[in-house]
This record gives sequence, structure tokens and C-alpha cells, in this order.
Amino acid sequence: MQVAVLNGVNLNALADRDPELYGGLGLRELENRIYRWGRELGLQVRCLQTNHEGQFVDWCHEARTWAGGIILNPGAWTHYSYGIRDAVELFTVPVVEVHLSDLAKREEWRQHSVLEDVVSARVIGKGPEGYREALVHVLEHT
Ligand code: DQA
Repeated sequence: MQVAVLNGVNLNALADRDPELYGGLGLRELENRIYRWGRELGLQVRCLQTNHEGQFVDWCHEARTWAGGIILNPGAWTHYSYGIRDAVELFTVPVVEVHLSDLAKREEWRQHSVLEDVVSARVIGKGPEGYREALVHVLEHT
């Protein structure tokens, strides 16, 4: 099965963001781990990252044609992008929302996700391992 892993705004700068929150891991290393976990689970994973909301929406639409499961971390868009919410709502396959940091322990505005009621599952505050958990969820729900 093919799985799309879509990372959004500012995730390209992961290595330079607060290591207390994000662990100091770069996007390339994060994606390498996700590809390795995917192989171990027998999944064909494709990781994409963009800082452009329209591109993220386009990838969501395209993924409807090829992916059997979706994992997404839209970064700050999570908290306000109804455009991304509307795109996510179109998926008919399992969709897992992942956040590296523990949103419950951060600013109040991060505690609301416009996606939470249109995704199949959420994995929050588990660092990179959260993506592995999301892959397992996708595998077990298709
Ligand atoms: C994040 C949490 C968001 O609030 C933040 O804007 C991010 C990353 C996370 O993975 O913890 O960019 O989605």
C-alpha cells in the first residue's frame, strides 16, 4: 500500500527550531526514519514537505488518486486553515494527524485543530516516533 506523508509549513526548518520541543532532528533525518519504518512495515511511503498552503492542498487532492493512507503534519496551518480542512475532508482513506510536540502543554492557540474532527486519528507529542505510530494506524485500518 502507498502512504503519503505530508509535512507543512516550517517543517523544513525542523533542525533549527526549539530542540526542547522538536528534538533537534532535521527534516531529512525525520524522513529517512519514516522511509525506514515504512519499509519495515511493508508500506510504500512518499514524503513531501512544502511551505505553500496551495501546494499542500494540491498534494492532498493528488494523493486521493494514489494513496491508501495519509499522514499529515500541517504545522501551524493545523490551527486555522479551513482550506486544508476542506481538502482533508475529501479523503476516503485513513488520515492521521501527527504533531511532534505536545500541543496540550503549549500556547492556547495551538490546542485547537481545525482538522481534529475530519481525521481518523491523531498522534501528538510523541516526537518522530509519532510518525511510526501513524504508519501502524494506517496499516491496521485499511
Ligand atoms: C507542530 C505544532 C504546530 O503548532 C507548529 O506550528 C508546528 C509543528 C508539531 O509538529 O508539533 O510547526 O505541528
